[in-house]
Amino acid sequence: SAQAQEAASRFPFKPVAAATDNTIHVPEGYSWKPVAKWGQPLFPNVQDIDPVKGVSLENSDKVFGENTDGMELFVVGNHQLIAVNHEYVNNETNLPHREKGMPANLDEVKILQHMQGVTVMEVAEGNDGWQIVVGSPFNRRIHHNTPMKLSGPAAGSDLVKTATDSNGIDCLGTFNNCGAGRTPWGTYLTCEENFNGYFGSTDAAFKMPDDYKRYGIAAETRYGYELFDERFDVSKHPNEPRRAGYVVEIDPSNASSTPIKRTALGRIKHENAAVVIARDGRVVVYMGDDERGEFLYKFISHGIYVPGGDTSKLLDEGTLYVAKFTDDGNGEWVALTPESTGMKMDEICVFTRQAASKVGATTMDRPEWVAINPVAIEAYCALTNNTNRGVTKDGKLRANGGGDAMALNAANPREKNEYGQIVRWYPENDDHADAKFKWDLFCMAGNPDVHKDAYAGSSNINAGNMFNSPDGMMFDSTGLLWIQTDGEDSNDGQYAGQGNNQMLAGDPVTGRIERFLTAPKGSEVTGQTWSADKRTHFVGIQHPNAPFPDGKGKLPRSALVAIKRDDNAMIG
Ligand code: FEO
Ligand code: CA
Ligand code: CA
Ligand code: CA
Repeated sequence: SAQAQEAASRFPFKPVAAATDNTIHVPEGYSWKPVAKWGQPLFPNVQDIDPVKGVSLENSDKVFGENTDGMELFVVGNHQLIAVNHEYVNNETNLPHREKGMPANLDEVKILQHMQGVTVMEVAEGNDGWQIVVGSPFNRRIHHNTPMKLSGPAAGSDLVKTATDSNGIDCLGTFNNCGAGRTPWGTYLTCEENFNGYFGSTDAAFKMPDDYKRYGIAAETRYGYELFDERFDVSKHPNEPRRAGYVVEIDPSNASSTPIKRTALGRIKHENAAVVIARDGRVVVYMGDDERGEFLYKFISHGIYVPGGDTSKLLDEGTLYVAKFTDDGNGEWVALTPESTGMKMDEICVFTRQAASKVGATTMDRPEWVAINPVAIEAYCALTNNTNRGVTKDGKLRANGGGDAMALNAANPREKNEYGQIVRWYPENDDHADAKFKWDLFCMAGNPDVHKDAYAGSSNINAGNMFNSPDGMMFDSTGLLWIQTDGEDSNDGQYAGQGNNQMLAGDPVTGRIERFLTAPKGSEVTGQTWSADKRTHFVGIQHPNAPFPDGKGKLPRSALVAIKRDDNAMIG
């Protein structure tokens, strides 16, 4: 039928089978090539990573960082720039001569600090595919020591003042940059997720402030920064971790611009920042907080976006909302204000999780990326999994750090949710600024080979497309949803038949989902963007555990790869 043909045309590829090997597979008629690998030079006279010694301190802020994550492509004049996150480092691969990669001095701490953050780089397509334009004036590394500014309601607050910054404005570094976003005015949004992991205490007697617990800030770290770099020692600088956990705006067109931490968007373990313009021109930003039992947020600017107008305050002045899902398929965005929370504005922006708990937001199964459909008024969030909702010994529902019981609800319906789901909402009045929405589940991931009950997954999950732990998610310009996974790749037990992590395409209209790519064993698929001509789909491969992408005998290197159709047709 015509309808079947239309549905089929949304998937112009033959789906790939699950795989368990150490490379990438894409459908027949497509091919892939690395563009940028961990430790690859961005500037002239910089050496590629040494497979035995790693990257030198001198080169560490001049090479592509480790563990590529969220990314966006920007067109500036006739240049194409990719801004891409480097979420974290594997210490042991960056400091191969140290036990467990633990740094033994400040220089080694700096190597770890430099290999994370963000890369902005120019890329160009030549006869040998896409390459970094080495030495382009746009090329830039932003890392854990890059000067930036706090902006919005928490800027200048006593909560964020430190010994070296008595104004609470001038901070250093962006941390654990996970997902990303872009604004219509051409800036990149990088999102600070598990920032807590970098801050520790050298003083066993130091009493951790009460607010640390909700964010997981603890005395011990796996990075050891606090041992050699005093800024990361919370016993000396207790406000320093309150200067992380934000969405940071970067102007990729100006390599000397100062990144800005937009505190109005809240301090959570930010996954990504999905931006859309509401009917009246206000800026709407959807954001997930990736931790078990945390929440889904939305920011709405006070001002409206006028192309070419002043955009400097749009992400500073506005209202932050948190989602309440009701079991009848309705939902509501609850404003976090002094009236609704009993907290001051700076407190709401620094202790955002605590503020959201006060208004009874719905606890979620780890909100990862939000994706906004460009051809329909709807948005999607990947709820990756929650295997530990559980019940405590005394029979109470386990709580998140705020004491909110992770009760089952219709949007998070599984007791032990190892597969995850994708929730979708439709704003009332077809307006992303509306306070109300309707919602449904686009899919419940599952394993129909292993389970016959609800854990088999929703009706659009089958033996040929099954996966677990949806994470990265983005729409292409045609309205096809690209789903990336970060899950269990044992291919065993509950996960039998699912293979390695993967990327799939989903059709919002029919619900059909097909597997497009399988990733190397041990890796997750993280971040994606498209070339200006939509003939290349860029995808990130994070933390492969076997030689990749250079093959046998070479280092496993996280990498950004380019996927094309062999006939060079548009694919996004
Ligand atoms: Fe860094 Fe929630 O993924
Ligand atoms: Ca993620
Ligand atoms: Ca994840
Ligand atoms: Ca990751």
